[in-house]
Amino acid sequence: MEAKKLISLLLFTFIFAALSTNLFLHDSNEIQYFFIIRKLRSLVLGIQRGWHCNSASNGNGVQTEQPVRRAFLSPNLSTCHQSLTDADVPIYCCPPKRESEEPFIDFQLPDPSLPLRVRRPAHLVDEEYIAKYNKAISIMKSLPYDDPRNFMRQANVHCVYCSGAYDQQNSNNTILKIHRSWLFFPWHRMMLYFHERIVASIIGDDTFALPFWNWDVPDGMRIPVMYMNGSFADKDRDTSHLPPQVADIHFDYVESGFSPQDQIASNVAFMYTQMVSGAKKTELFMGCPYKAGDEGFCDGPGTIELAPHNALHTWVGSNLNPERENLGAFYSAARDPIFYAHHSNIDRLWEVWRGLQGNNKGEIHDPDWLDSYFFFHNEKLQLVRIKIRDVLDITKLGYAYERVPLLWLNARPEPSMPPKIARYMLKMRDSHNGLLLSSHTNSANFEPEGRILDTTIRAKVHRPKTHRTKEEKEEEEEVLVVYGIDVKKDVYLKFDVFVNAVDGETTIGPESREFAGTFVHMRRGVRLVMNKGETTVKRKTNLKLGISELLEDLEADGDESIWVALVPRGGTGMHISVDGIRIEYMR
Ligand code: C2O
Repeated sequence: MEAKKLISLLLFTFIFAALSTNLFLHDSNEIQYFFIIRKLRSLVLGIQRGWHCNSASNGNGVQTEQPVRRAFLSPNLSTCHQSLTDADVPIYCCPPKRESEEPFIDFQLPDPSLPLRVRRPAHLVDEEYIAKYNKAISIMKSLPYDDPRNFMRQANVHCVYCSGAYDQQNSNNTILKIHRSWLFFPWHRMMLYFHERIVASIIGDDTFALPFWNWDVPDGMRIPVMYMNGSFADKDRDTSHLPPQVADIHFDYVESGFSPQDQIASNVAFMYTQMVSGAKKTELFMGCPYKAGDEGFCDGPGTIELAPHNALHTWVGSNLNPERENLGAFYSAARDPIFYAHHSNIDRLWEVWRGLQGNNKGEIHDPDWLDSYFFFHNEKLQLVRIKIRDVLDITKLGYAYERVPLLWLNARPEPSMPPKIARYMLKMRDSHNGLLLSSHTNSANFEPEGRILDTTIRAKVHRPKTHRTKEEKEEEEEVLVVYGIDVKKDVYLKFDVFVNAVDGETTIGPESREFAGTFVHMRRGVRLVMNKGETTVKRKTNLKLGISELLEDLEADGDESIWVALVPRGGTGMHISVDGIRIEYMR
């Protein structure tokens, strides 16, 4: 009798749960079943945790009901299909055997008794290390293609996830891409983790750690010499950028013409903007919140992903290849061994940035992010399912970064002219605005047509709030949003954004405080969402730049409006239009 009562209670709870959350309206049986079981369990046991997120804390620790989701972002392994390179050339980088036919295991943290693997700057590693790593890569290059440790297979893991070769789990024909959003940092961390473990196992050395290309310190601002030889060499690089050429980490697609010293100074100042003043809130650094399903898509990379990340990919890749392969195109990038060192530095900077935020302020607690999951092969050739929440503690992952000086941390740029004079000149110009209508405008909204960036766009942008207190500014960052960026032609594109610059944008750059940030578009194919020929969905991008600190330095904090200039670089502006510029506040 007791058992019968319990069963009917369970049944009742089940129906109630299902109806109350519209579970029957969804279409995938597996996930639906999964959620029903979870929901049932949570209702009966009062447990609200794990993969589902039917409830959320409202900040006061009170649980509130949220609409039931369809799924977390993840690939549907049975769908790997031909995709397109960034220039619309068909490419096939799927594994030879469908991964959906392989069993998978869930990720386990490595044994904590293993030695900590310390990643070192690539320009400082010794010959012995280089020889070992070189050997591993040549072995990986010689493995058969059906071995997931094969070097090309490793490169194609990146290709699959970056070219949209997988559809999303449980979302019809919606593809999955790992760039230009908050997936960027964690996904690449995972890829490097498995790659590093594979290299280690091939040379039988558990202490093996990838090197990092330390392009944010002057000594590291060139292609590390180790990448010029043996299995590290790649003939598909821009030959004018080989060492000792100083890297241009905010590459404009044309040579900067800077002396090495000026390039270094400009790079260091640029790092300050990207890591510090432009990235005071999590979304600014991490990128936009990309979630599952057609509606969950977003396109908004964080500061570091835009540049140096994109810019250096392009700077290294060969100018003689149509898509600047290898490093310059995502589908081929990981064929160049320097890819792993480039991303190792990106991964390191994520750690540095989190450290700078203090009080765990830079963390993301959204389960949509934490429970997004992907699949990789480990060194034992097992397919592993891994979630973002698994990779948030690198100590637990068994690695660390050698500490290096953070020169850029104190490289706060100075205004290019005394702010008082600049503001006086801007006001004068403002009052003569009628005469300058062709190149200046008071309206920062260019809709519906948008404005082509074939020449510099200058606009006066209204600031809804002035004279905010220090606390208010810490609470809410003032964000300059260039919205509705429409990439008309999928080529490398770049524009820089300046605030209160007096006509000098062509002669000043990141080394001046007026520089607020940059938009870099690496070719990546226009089909951002759909990939099956049925629908081509192209969405516009927003660029968000934190400017609270910059406005203080420009003494513009009390002004009701600022002058913003969008400056196309490398002659690429005719392929972009923007819908407008506005100020927002971000918590
Ligand atoms: Cu997934 Cu640096 O690219």
